[in-house]
Amino acid sequence: MDFGIAGKWALVCGASKGLGFGCARALAEEGVNLVILARTEGPLQEAADSLRALPGAGKVIAVAADVATPEGRAAALSVPGGPGDAIDILLNNAGGPPPGDFHDWDESDWQAALSANMLTPIALIKALVDGMATRGFGRIVNVTSVSVKAPIANLGLSNGARSGLTGFVAGIARGPLARQGVTINNLLPGAFATDRLIATIANEAQGKGLAADAVLDDRRESIPAGRLGTPDEFGAVFAFLCSRQAGYINGQNILCDGGAYPGTH
Ligand SMILES: NC(=O)c1ccc[n+]([C@@H]2O[C@H](COP(=O)([O-])OP(=O)(O)OC[C@H]3O[C@@H](n4cnc5c(N)ncnc54)[C@H](OP(=O)(O)O)[C@@H]3O)[C@@H](O)[C@H]2O)c1
Repeated sequence: MDFGIAGKWALVCGASKGLGFGCARALAEEGVNLVILARTEGPLQEAADSLRALPGAGKVIAVAADVATPEGRAAALSVPGGPGDAIDILLNNAGGPPPGDFHDWDESDWQAALSANMLTPIALIKALVDGMATRGFGRIVNVTSVSVKAPIANLGLSNGARSGLTGFVAGIARGPLARQGVTINNLLPGAFATDRLIATIANEAQGKGLAADAVLDDRRESIPAGRLGTPDEFGAVFAFLCSRQAGYINGQNILCDGGAYPGTH
């Protein structure tokens, strides 16, 4: 299937590894031009090189910057040779907040979580969405988490910040933008094989006094699919949400979790 997005520009945040890289790869395979963002220069440049080497890949521009800062976002939107703010596809993604016990978190911990996982996506949406509407095409996808539907006890910062973003998106996705070719959806990962998951499992194992491998095995067993997801699987769903064909999917929270969430809605 031709997704009809070759030659468009996408800004993919948190793209040097994990789910963000899976999403960047899926768009590169569709011939989308990419601005990819992560904080650490070396892995980011390696990611950019591997994306450029894909058959049919378009331009790939790497910006080493912290998306959770105004300066980082400005750098992404003004990179030489890039599209400026004429971006048609946006993946909002950054590292998740740390796990822990809510008794230990003070206001600065909450501010950091809200900044990275709620206010930063909102700032990028604000910067890009009017241009998308004027051009009559826009696809915005926010990486949130299954924790929006089924909160995870030791991830309170994530549960809270992502729920705030989810509420905001539910409103604007259904506003005037919906008639101007712009869709805004949230993609909710369950358990995917990335560095982030390994860190979360290690924290859980420590809390329970168990070996990390044992906790990981239990997690796999608890998933109907019997395994962790892969960043490529996540990227494929993302690319479809960015396609012309997905123009009637808007304002949704789409789980990608191997069937782990047990509810019907
Ligand atoms: N993996 C899962 O199973 C899972 C499940 C539920 C939710 N999630 C959420 O999905 C998101 C992605 O997770 P992941 O597993 O792909 O994580 P990951 O493997 O740790 O990758 C995170 C990526 O984001 C970049 N990044 C982090 N903070 C950034 C910032 N402030 N500015 C720019 N880039 C930043 C990282 O590079 P640098 O560190 O170099 O910046 C890296 O490229 C996270 O919010 C996570 O909480 C993941």
